[in-house]
Amino acid sequence: MVSVSDTGVGLPSQQADQIFDAFFTTKLHGTGMGLRMSRSIIESHGGRLWAADNSPRGASFYLTLPAHTQGQQSTRGN
Ligand SMILES: Nc1ncnc2c1ncn2[C@@H]1O[C@H](COP(=O)(O)OP(=O)(O)O)[C@@H](O)[C@H]1O
Ligand SMILES: [Mg+2]
Repeated sequence: MVSVSDTGVGLPSQQADQIFDAFFTTKLHGTGMGLRMSRSIIESHGGRLWAADNSPRGASFYLTLPAHTQGQQSTRGN
């Protein structure tokens, strides 16, 4: 697991569940695609991506990836 925390404005209140939705943005010129694509890529590798609001400010993002995927064979020593 990797986590990244910042000291910014924190997740948008009442809408924290929506930040991973396609086209959801709180920015004037945002695309709302960054988190959607990030989650999609991570999940396609068997991982998870989520966020949590920090007190009194900021947000943390967490991502997990499996060390081994099913069917994967080690090439080390072969
Ligand atoms: N580090 C962060 N702190 C607070 N809110 C965030 C953070 N990263 C993303 N968000 C929220 O999630 C929304 C969607 O982010 P993202 O998918 O990257 O699209 P965009 O950056 O184009 O808005 C942002 O508009 C913002 O509301
Ligand atoms: Mg972004």
